[in-house]
Amino acid sequence: MRRIDLIEPFRVMQLLERAKELEAEDKHIIHMEIGEPDFLTPQPVLDAAKRHLVQHNLFYTASTGAPELQQALSAWYKSEYDVDVAAERMLITPGTSGAFSLLYAVLLEAGESVLLPDPGYPCQRNFIRLAGGEPVNVAVNANTAYHLSADVIRKFWTPATRAVVAINPSNPTGTIMAKQQLSALAKTCRELGGYLISDEIYHGLTYGTKATCALEVDDKAIVVNGFSKRWAMTGWRIGWVIVPEELIEPCRRVMQNIFISAPTLSQYAGITALKNIDDVEAMRVAYDKRRKYLLEALPRLGFEIAVEPQGAFYIYANVAKLTHDAKQFCWDILEQAGVAITPGEDFGTYQSEQHVRFSYATSLEDLKEGVTRLHSYLNKPV
Ligand SMILES: Cc1ncc(COP(=O)(O)O)c(C=O)c1O
Repeated sequence: MRRIDLIEPFRVMQLLERAKELEAEDKHIIHMEIGEPDFLTPQPVLDAAKRHLVQHNLFYTASTGAPELQQALSAWYKSEYDVDVAAERMLITPGTSGAFSLLYAVLLEAGESVLLPDPGYPCQRNFIRLAGGEPVNVAVNANTAYHLSADVIRKFWTPATRAVVAINPSNPTGTIMAKQQLSALAKTCRELGGYLISDEIYHGLTYGTKATCALEVDDKAIVVNGFSKRWAMTGWRIGWVIVPEELIEPCRRVMQNIFISAPTLSQYAGITALKNIDDVEAMRVAYDKRRKYLLEALPRLGFEIAVEPQGAFYIYANVAKLTHDAKQFCWDILEQAGVAITPGEDFGTYQSEQHVRFSYATSLEDLKEGVTRLHSYLNKPV
């Protein structure tokens, strides 16, 4: 089989396309499937971008990023997590998606593998396959808050394993990894001779507890983050990866070739974004309200939530009491109730037919309407 034949579509897009068709027929759809903030990019960031556009040029920056943004990030990690990270270790990428393509290009030889949590963010496995590597899905459940543990990775580790991915807070479960669990995971990765890659794109979108940055527990961890979610800047395509010293040079060579540089305007907008935490705080508070609403409403409809999500904007629910086939269930409620949610199969294979993901990156008003519709759909006599 050729490598490209292994690449799966991003399945939630198929559901979204059908939702759009229904909307074109004038049906009103409640969108709880998309993992994209419904807020606008904060005004100061837009203003900074406008100023930069008028006053500056938009030439390429250095391949590893505009030094001003690298320095701003270094200061940010000091103030946010109290970790000292040299600015040169901050590599600026086109979204965190760019960071993952870069990392796997640098880390993997054909046939080498990466351990991933199942359920987990679906694109990961395809980035790995594109680099000729092998994604190894490792089932995680409520006992470890849907995160990989040191014990589990020991069982799955082989001589071909190069890295382990943590998604903290998790997509799709919204759960946070305890500091101790992250620390044990990092230590075990080191012992086994691999890298811990920590996807921290939902950092800052946490409710009642703060997520630990992997660099707080291990200076060699690879940290991936970006502006898409916390700052509502998905379309700006800007993220970063923090690598240990020995990876800077190989990453630089690959970046020179595959990106030349991340989008210049977005890099300068990013510097302003880091200074505008008050603007993003209002979004966080709104997400938390929505989260609380759904955590109350969904169990009453029969959706079971094993671990309270304290981060991101997702709720992962067991639907075993409602259906045997989560995928068909999602398609049925889209067609018959006009509510779009994502089936578990998008995030892996482990118990996926029993799970769905709700995204609350949509207004409270819409969430309430969605719940009302689900209520009448589920209580309809058959
Ligand atoms: C866990 C996780 N990582 C990475 C990404 C990619 O984000 P971006 O490329 O916009 O930075 C997403 C997007 O949904 C995500 O959920």
